[in-house]
Amino acid sequence: MSSNKQITSTVTDEGKLEIAITESERPIPGDNEVLIQVEATPINPSDLGLLIGPGDINTLKVENSKIVMDVPDAIMGAMKPRLNKPMPVGNEGSGVVIEAGANAQELMGKVVSVVGGGMYSQYRCLPAASCMVMNEGTEPRECASSFVNPLTALGMVETMKMEGHTALVHSAAASNLGQMLVKICVNDGVQLVNIVRKQEHVDLLKSIGAQFVCNSSDDDFMEQLTLAITETKATLAFDATGGGELAGKILTCMEIAARKNSTEYSPYGSTDHKQVYIYGGLNQSGITLPNNRTFGMYWGIGGFLLTPFLGKVGFEKVGELQARVANEIKTTFASNYTQEVSLKEVLTLESLMVYAKQATGEKFLINPSS
Ligand SMILES: NC(=O)c1ccc[n+]([C@@H]2O[C@H](COP(=O)([O-])OP(=O)(O)OC[C@H]3O[C@@H](n4cnc5c(N)ncnc54)[C@H](OP(=O)(O)O)[C@@H]3O)[C@@H](O)[C@H]2O)c1
Repeated sequence: MSSNKQITSTVTDEGKLEIAITESERPIPGDNEVLIQVEATPINPSDLGLLIGPGDINTLKVENSKIVMDVPDAIMGAMKPRLNKPMPVGNEGSGVVIEAGANAQELMGKVVSVVGGGMYSQYRCLPAASCMVMNEGTEPRECASSFVNPLTALGMVETMKMEGHTALVHSAAASNLGQMLVKICVNDGVQLVNIVRKQEHVDLLKSIGAQFVCNSSDDDFMEQLTLAITETKATLAFDATGGGELAGKILTCMEIAARKNSTEYSPYGSTDHKQVYIYGGLNQSGITLPNNRTFGMYWGIGGFLLTPFLGKVGFEKVGELQARVANEIKTTFASNYTQEVSLKEVLTLESLMVYAKQATGEKFLINPSS
């Protein structure tokens, strides 16, 4: 009997978070399933929520080859549904199909990419229908991030069109996803205003074709943003920081830009609908809106999540977007990783302190088969 090693995250009823490698039997695919030998799976911000989310990083230690952290008492109540359950981690990844059920034989030996959960695993058994078959010549390492970031970036442009906007604002824009969005917008002729917080990221995005990049650390950030929004007429923003003052600042600049373009005065502000979608939680503080609500009466702040978006646009559109991802995986949708690590290396203090930072250019790729 062959075994399968995977990374799991458990919250114990003693208030500890334990990240460990657990071993189980290697699954056997059913008729409509395939067994994938996973060769590449990224550590995305969305994985960290499950992997280390509830743990207090200041209490981090390694005990018996496990990473252990305290879970603050205040959030233990919310942990009830996952108490003492080892949760498999890893939203997406890629590998080679090494076994296939009777109805999935055509996938044998193919490089596939999947968003199946539990991907920090040597082997993953999944329905054949959930596999994105990559083009000949694509290596698993190149297509490890084929779903979450590429489809979300494409989803932003689709949402812009569906909701009647004509240009976009994007924050934390030097992220892997942000760089994809820059390339999509350049290729598709969509005006995009990027917000970053370091000069080196202004330079990085400009080097890949971005026209508007505003630095939130600059004293004149509001002027930069207003100017870029006035020029692009962007009324839709996707904000990955999801906390602090940024959403309010974006709406304020949109309102100033809209009023500049308007010929009539209204005490309720401009009648251009201004929308910010929060799609990440990089800044864990609450959202703060300006006291004097400087953006009139016609605005919205909401959440954006990939899965409901895919459900909304439907099967055919999703297929179209996936085909684009497969064809452009080495260009538009290429991801950058600083380190490639084994399952064991994920569980070292040195690694965790780096990937938990979620900084630009510090993304890890796990090869569970190494
Ligand atoms: N809602 C959805 O369905 C969905 C789907 C996919 C991705 N996402 C979100 O998309 C975002 C980007 O993902 P990714 O994998 O592309 O990330 P990534 O490559 O790991 O990059 C993370 C970026 O966030 C910036 N950042 C980190 N903390 C920040 C803070 N407090 N304020 C401002 N910027 C901060 C970093 O810039 P610095 O170097 O300046 O720190 C870096 O550029 C994540 O928030 C993720 O959760 C959401």
